[in-house]
Amino acid sequence: MATIANAAPGMRYTKVAIWLHWAIGLAVLTNISLAMLTEGLPRATRMALMNIHKPLGIAVLGLTVLLILWRIGHRPPPQPAGTPAWQRPMSRIVHFLFYALLILLPLSGWIWFSAADRPIDFFGLFQLPAIVGPDEALADQMHERHETLGIAMLVLAAIHILAALKHQFVDRTGLIGRMNPF
Ligand code: HEM
Repeated sequence: MATIANAAPGMRYTKVAIWLHWAIGLAVLTNISLAMLTEGLPRATRMALMNIHKPLGIAVLGLTVLLILWRIGHRPPPQPAGTPAWQRPMSRIVHFLFYALLILLPLSGWIWFSAADRPIDFFGLFQLPAIVGPDEALADQMHERHETLGIAMLVLAAIHILAALKHQFVDRTGLIGRMNPF
């Protein structure tokens, strides 16, 4: 019963929110993989892969701003039918933390590279402007913050994905239908 109710039109996200969700989700998971799985690789290979990581992170920042603006004009659907009372605030908190991290994680990278005086190339199209002047101490601090925020994002993504899969396949609430673009 809840499965049908959750897939009903009024219970789904808008198409724009859904496509932005999957674009951001895919980019974040790619970027976490690029950062963590390339650590032991030869320097030149890692640098080449990090030249994808950096603009992709900036794209996440831009897409997240778009999603937040869209969300202001288009409220998300009501919480899924049958969600236990204790889970309702939890999902709001997780979503809020996601938005905070989706802004702070790329921003810390941008500040880090600006402070280190290393311009970020956006997929060969243009260079991003520096948002702070050269400052070695700030660069070191942002480097550390960026890594900590990255770990927080990994933990949050794991919680979010496991919760979505549990709803879908264990509780069979059809939750993922709310985010199905097709
Ligand atoms: C790191 C990657 C991901 C990020 C950053 C992310 C982010 C988000 C955010 C911010 C929301 C809240 C949307 C809103 O109400 O404003 C959301 C909702 C949702 N996400 Fe993700 N997501 C990711 C990956 C996934 C994956 C892999 C799945 C499926 C297994 C998934 C399934 C869902 C579903 C079903 C909802 C709607 C939940 C509900 O209706 O209460 N997400 N996601």
